[in-house]
Amino acid sequence: MKYFVANWKMHKTYIEAFEFLEHFKNVPIGLNECVIIAPSFTLLWPISKSMGELKIKLSAQNMYCEDKGAYTGETSPIHLKDCNVEFVIIGHSERRNLFHEDDELISKKLKKAFEYNITPIFCIGETLEQRKNNLTFDVISKQLSIGLSKLTESEIYKIIFAYEPVWAIGTGINATPNQAEEVHEFIKSFLQKNFFKNEDINVKILYGGSVTPNNIKDLMSISKIDGVLVGGASLIPDSFERIIKFNRE
Ligand code: PGA
Repeated sequence: MKYFVANWKMHKTYIEAFEFLEHFKNVPIGLNECVIIAPSFTLLWPISKSMGELKIKLSAQNMYCEDKGAYTGETSPIHLKDCNVEFVIIGHSERRNLFHEDDELISKKLKKAFEYNITPIFCIGETLEQRKNNLTFDVISKQLSIGLSKLTESEIYKIIFAYEPVWAIGTGINATPNQAEEVHEFIKSFLQKNFFKNEDINVKILYGGSVTPNNIKDLMSISKIDGVLVGGASLIPDSFERIIKFNRE
């Protein structure tokens, strides 16, 4: 299965979102493709009611780690279930950097998502400075160790991991396939060593950071990459379609 996740971030009005969905009514989605869109919270409900025959799945971009209570401005997994949301992005670098989410909070969110049977798309990745200082693997190890600390082995197995180097997000500079492969391999062996009793567990790891129709083929040529998390290029229906169809052109 190959995953194509559109992270719309704080973009798209109601009308724009429905123009996008209209376009995808004519885009066949293969049996081995899982296409997921992550719109803003306000669009989850109307989109969930209008999916019809569309084979696109819904993700939230974030959620809080409590069921309900005095948490002004937050969104609970109960609200997400109301909107038939199947996935939730947790630990995106913009949440970590702009909204100061730390690994502890992220670990609580991951646990809470599983309580509600929502599959987390768990983002990890290093900054440019960390990469320059050879800290990439240390940073990823810490994000994984703390992030996954509350989860069972079978929960960890269900996660969709997304390696998103912070320096590649929204910059137009994607990681090279070799750079992505190196980190994907590291993540797999780290999980194997620290969380799984059996050998050869097949975790799903996506790549994210300046994915476009022009570089998708190169990136996906690496067998370790199970799909992509796409920001900017997922906003234009035609370019997201070309990303999904990278293999058919
Ligand atoms: P980008 O964003 O594709 O615009 O670099 C990716 C992401 O933030 O998930």
